[in-house]
Amino acid sequence: MQNYLQELFGLNGKTAIVTGGAMGIGKGIAISLASAGATVLIADRVSTDDASETMKELRSINASCSYYQIDLTDINKLPALVKKAVSEYGALDILVNNAGIYKYQAMLDMSEDMWDKVLDLNLKSAVFLSKEAATAMKQKGNGGRIINITSVDAMKPVAPNLAHYDASKAALRMFTRSFAKEVAPFGILVNDIAPGGVNTPGTKLIAGENPSAEQLKALEAQTAGFIQMLPIKRFGEPEDIGSATLFLAGKAATYITGTTLVVDGGMLIM
Ligand SMILES: NC(=O)c1ccc[n+]([C@@H]2O[C@H](COP(=O)([O-])OP(=O)(O)OC[C@H]3O[C@@H](n4cnc5c(N)ncnc54)[C@H](O)[C@@H]3O)[C@@H](O)[C@H]2O)c1
Repeated sequence: MQNYLQELFGLNGKTAIVTGGAMGIGKGIAISLASAGATVLIADRVSTDDASETMKELRSINASCSYYQIDLTDINKLPALVKKAVSEYGALDILVNNAGIYKYQAMLDMSEDMWDKVLDLNLKSAVFLSKEAATAMKQKGNGGRIINITSVDAMKPVAPNLAHYDASKAALRMFTRSFAKEVAPFGILVNDIAPGGVNTPGTKLIAGENPSAEQLKALEAQTAGFIQMLPIKRFGEPEDIGSATLFLAGKAATYITGTTLVVDGGMLIM
């Protein structure tokens, strides 16, 4: 049994880049992959100091995990990130495009700047990092996995005032399918995971940067009502997305490409 599970889900000797891994879902994914044996390189924009708690936790699981500070929307800097993984660890086997922002804004009040901010990170950076990663994977000749974190919003506009976000995630979901077709001949499998509501530092900011007691109360009431309607009566946790990523990253998912794994507590069947 032990050997069988190790064979299906073990990631010993594999190297993974997890974007936006300093906190939230990305941190859950990084811990999950490292716990299965992978060496994880977290790529995030926060300072090394701000990432230190996460890195401490991660290095207690696998000492060779490392941190790379980068603003992923600076597309010209993406090749150096992949180069770093290859030169430091010998290869890049897994890329998880997780970093994303969701700033609530009505489309009728949308500025071009806000639209670009969301699309530049959620779509463009993931697309161009996938290109760099797949190029390195193809060169190495051992195949690889690319896992994009999309959202249930890629399939259904769940919350109001997220037209820019929903468009970015739907486009990333279709890119996943299209790119999966292109790189399958090289043994590179590309899938996406669509989370529902997950407890993270990002979702805590939904009520605003400095929410009033009233705003927080309103958000709490809204969340409680939402959980009541959810078939699995709890919010998701970063580990829920971590274990789904682990599945798609390992041997167990060798025959899966170009698809979406929905991890939403049943939100889409509400
Ligand atoms: N939390 C949810 O309910 C939920 C639901 C569906 C999908 N998602 C998706 O999951 C992903 C992670 O969400 P989260 O809730 O953990 O977010 P979060 O805000 O808690 O964490 C996001 C991380 O990305 C990093 N980041 C942001 N912009 C960056 C940039 N330009 N360059 C490098 N790093 C950057 C942040 O520093 C942070 O560490 C996002 O793509 C989000 O759209 C989240």
